[in-house]
Amino acid sequence: MPVYTNIHDLKDEYRRRAPRMFYDYCESGSWTEQTFRDNSSDFEDIRLRQKVAVDMTGRTTSGQMVGQDVAMPVALAPVGLTGMQCADGEIKAAKAAEAFGVPFTLSTMSICSIEDVAENTAKPFWFQLYTMKDTDYTARLIKRAKDAGCSALVITLDLQILGQRHKDLKNGLSAPPKLTLSTMANLATKWRWGLEMLGTKRRFFGNIVGHVDGISDASSLGSWTSEQFDPSLDWAKVAKLMEQWDGKVILKGILDAEDAKMAAKLGADAIVVSNHGGRQLDGALSSIRVLPSIMDAVGSDIEVHLDGGIRSGQDVLKALAMGAKGTYIGRSFVYGLGADGQAGVHTALEILHRELDLTMALCGETNVANLGRHNLLVPEDFEGRWQT
Ligand code: GLV
Repeated sequence: MPVYTNIHDLKDEYRRRAPRMFYDYCESGSWTEQTFRDNSSDFEDIRLRQKVAVDMTGRTTSGQMVGQDVAMPVALAPVGLTGMQCADGEIKAAKAAEAFGVPFTLSTMSICSIEDVAENTAKPFWFQLYTMKDTDYTARLIKRAKDAGCSALVITLDLQILGQRHKDLKNGLSAPPKLTLSTMANLATKWRWGLEMLGTKRRFFGNIVGHVDGISDASSLGSWTSEQFDPSLDWAKVAKLMEQWDGKVILKGILDAEDAKMAAKLGADAIVVSNHGGRQLDGALSSIRVLPSIMDAVGSDIEVHLDGGIRSGQDVLKALAMGAKGTYIGRSFVYGLGADGQAGVHTALEILHRELDLTMALCGETNVANLGRHNLLVPEDFEGRWQT
């Protein structure tokens, strides 16, 4: 049994276990992958300020995201095809999040359906919405999430069209995988994944197949998004969706101060500073690098969350100290899931929690709520190098 001491250990095991096509889907960005790489590496530009001789007993990482209690301000991000990383992946990840006390966000493009996850968990989860041209279908998705007791709607704004990811095109990404000679050769080496997959009936996009008339093959993410996603989504439509939901709304995919102001003006409960894990506009700035400008623009008007590049508790601490009230992990939980299912997601959360707690202590803090710029050493040009 491998000893996992950090998130990268989980990633190594995930790589061994998961079919190449799904590993590549997770571990890639669009085009040159510059933004994907920057998301993580830009955290390294920020250093931490050590403080000594501070009473570090009675520490807590717990807090709130959109008014809901969290054991630490780290939510599981919506990730498409999670149930292809291992059988029943969304259910396993949601259970691990629930046991740990952090939010789980179910993607519209999940394998397990909204109802599947609701039946297998006890606490409310969050639902991430992609808006479709078929407004009835979008309305039905919203209603299904409401009926399932979801406690927040996360509306993704940065994927009306899909950024090009070379590996997915080359691998012929689909759910379930199409059996070509090369996928079969790869699957033959992934026997544990295959055995578990044979034991579940959840192998298709669960929120779509059987819920949309006339759609028999939604197996390709690329063709589904280009045919069905609403490219005309604008702020007026976002406002309507928010009305339809009539509950906590989180707007995800904000990278620009003007957009952040608009989201605040619409009355969203939170925004997620995100570039979709570097999977959409390659060349956009990393999330952590734009966070300060977003905080300056709307920090006192709306709750700001950050997604993108978080691979450690130190990264979480840096985002919180920069002003974010919450953070999201996508790949970091998928590594755990692919390595060891539900237990692996729990391990990923434990690793991040331990790192956050210890780092907070060594920075002389005992409560995540007290983290701030005073804990960080930030280069003078961190925000200012790129000008419009
Ligand atoms: C969205 O579902 C993605 O693949 O980034």
